Amino acid sequence: MIDQRLKSVIRDVPDFPEPGIIFKDITPILKDPGLCEAILDAFEARLQADAIDVIAGIESRGFLFGLMLAQRLGKPFVPVRKQGKLPYHTVAQSYALEYGKATIEIHEDAFIAGTRILVHDDLLATGGTVTATSQLIQKLGGNIAGFAFIISLDFLKGSERLTDYSPNIVSLVGY
Ligand code: PRP
Ligand code: MG
Repeated sequence: MIDQRLKSVIRDVPDFPEPGIIFKDITPILKDPGLCEAILDAFEARLQADAIDVIAGIESRGFLFGLMLAQRLGKPFVPVRKQGKLPYHTVAQSYALEYGKATIEIHEDAFIAGTRILVHDDLLATGGTVTATSQLIQKLGGNIAGFAFIISLDFLKGSERLTDYSPNIVSLVGY
């Protein structure tokens, strides 16, 4: 099972990036090409590719598998980036963090209105990042086809915030 394979390699790092947080480190996954392939196999099996036009990946860890998944499914990839990183004209969306706020951006010509977008990130925690990404996509007239995560921290109930955008939420391993 993919979830057990993932649990055996994802590394818990206590007190990173701040005291009290147990960080889920995915870098050991990246050292295992067979496991990376198995992740793409699992996504492909659980996603309905013909209902997806474009994959959007969220900076920075969402880029790692976002482009690979887009290539696997034969779909275009679009990066959602932190403020000030994209060179062309952008649309922005701010969202609240525990302390302060963050802003993400997408190129205004990333896709045309009506495009069905699968949002990918490595990990779903509170859901703040993907909620803001969904709002950004909707600003450009995109439709949210679903969400694909490697990891979901289910005790934070982030998925409850996503059902307003799409009921299609795939996560390969939950904690
Ligand atoms: C992490 C993770 C998700 C987000 C999840 O990214 O990769 O993108 O937080 O948290 P949320 O569901 O509470 O919004 P981070 O901001 O640490 O940046 P990185 O991907 O660039 O490492
Ligand atoms: Mg991230």
